[in-house]
This record gives sequence, structure tokens and C-alpha cells, in this order.
Amino acid sequence: MIGIIGGSGLYEIESLKVVDRLSIDTPFGEPSSEVVVGELNGRRVCFLSRHGKGHVYPPHLVPYRANLWALRKLGVSRVLAFSAVGAINRRFEPGDFVIVDDLLDFTKGRESTYYEGKFSLKVEDKDRVGELLNSNKVVHIDSSQLYCPQMRSLLAEVLEDLKLTYHPSGVYACTEGPRFETPAEIRAIERLGGDVVGMTGYPEVVLARELTMCYASLCVVSNPAAGIARYRLTSEEVISLMKKKEEEIRAILVEFIRRVPQEKTCGCDRILDGAQV
Ligand code: HPA
Repeated sequence: MIGIIGGSGLYEIESLKVVDRLSIDTPFGEPSSEVVVGELNGRRVCFLSRHGKGHVYPPHLVPYRANLWALRKLGVSRVLAFSAVGAINRRFEPGDFVIVDDLLDFTKGRESTYYEGKFSLKVEDKDRVGELLNSNKVVHIDSSQLYCPQMRSLLAEVLEDLKLTYHPSGVYACTEGPRFETPAEIRAIERLGGDVVGMTGYPEVVLARELTMCYASLCVVSNPAAGIARYRLTSEEVISLMKKKEEEIRAILVEFIRRVPQEKTCGCDRILDGAQV
């Protein structure tokens, strides 16, 4: 099943035929919202709102571990995440889509792994993840390809066919927030190779990967980043741009879900092989 995580401005999917609304408890706490299980063109999907109903979880306090665990518990094996981002790359403009292909992490001390060795939470799961947690293993996952190549190329095909403006790759820099960045921070991130900046991409992607799920991040540029914009950044600007993109996002979702094959050719589910110490 595909799990969709909606970011700022995407709190539900209107065309989803709702089958169930589930409040899921996890060993890592409560997810940020109920999970809506539904059907989109006959395919089963589930949807979770990253910031919760009423946008009550700021980026640094999103229960990322609970969110990904809840999706996995429902049988999600591919996660498609949407986020608003500021553009650092001068070729990226508000309204453009970006299919992220790498990450720079500037967050500070978020809970960013399930595998805490002797401090790991014990779980009921009997699978590989459960075994690693219950046997106190230390696990280092490979991060050289965090974003699923199969999902990324399908996203590119869909965006191409829908004639939307998009960038097939981009480095996502994740800052701690909740404030927007300073111009000096953006200049520094630009020199380090960041193309877009947001506050929620990490540790979400890593946690999905630790649970062996495929993960892709489709970002919508909502504003030029601080200092590149010659004006004051506001949350209003971010949300209002995302609202304008709602129709397009729905079209992308419908097409993506219709085309996604059952079979995986990416190897994402083998990430735990050789990862434990
Ligand atoms: N910075 C950080 N996060 C964001 C931005 C930004 O400029 N725009 C949307 N999310």
C-alpha cells in the first residue's frame, strides 16, 4: 500500500473515497493525525497529515517516529511525502515541483532513529525490524540513496505527462526551525550544495528507510529562500501557494497511484542487509 504524508497546506485529499479513519497508537507515541484509509481510483492508499489537524505540530515537534511506524503497521511499503520548500537554487521558482534526490541535515537533536542499541524500545513485531530492536542492535543504514529511484522516476514521468514545471533532482536542506532561516544561513547552505530548504524532510526519510520502506519527497517551491527574496517571509505566503497547487497535487497523486507497479525494482527493502553491527 502507498502512504501519503501531507505537509503545510495539504491536510486532506478531497477525492479520496474514505474507507476508515484510524487512531493508531505506536510504541513511539501517537502519530500527528489519524490515518485516513481510502481508495483513489480503486487503489487503496492511506493519508497522514504531518502537522496534524489544525496544523498543531511545529516541524521540530512532529512525532516522526510514531508517524512512520503507524504507516508501516498498516502495511505501507511506499511513502510519498509532500512538502513546501524555499528555493535556494536560482533556477527554481515559486510553484515549481522538485523531486528531491539528496539531503543535507541541519536539525538539532531530533529523535532520528529507531535503533538505539541497548536503549531500543522493545516491540511486538516478529519481523526483521522487531528482531533488531528486541536484540539491542546498533544499525547504520546506508544513506547514499535515501530517496527511492523507482518512485522518483515514476514521479518524473507523471509530472512530465501532466506538463507541470518540475526539477527531476534537488538537494533538500533541512533546518531546525520553526523560524525561517537568515540570509547568511541560506548563503552557507547554497555553498554546501542545497537547492531547496525546508524544516520537515529530516528525519522522516531516514525513519522510513530504517523501516525498509521506499520513500519519495515531492516538494513544492512556495517562496524564494531568505535573502534571495528581497522581502519578509511569511507562513501565509507558504500556505497560500500550497492551496493554489492543490488541484495539481491531486492530479499527480491520482496518476502516480494509477501507474505505480506492484513489483519493486529499487532494492530499498534490502537496506537492513549488512547494516547491523
Ligand atoms: N525555509 C524553510 N522552510 C520552508 C520555507 C523556507 O523558506 N518555505 C517553506 N518551508
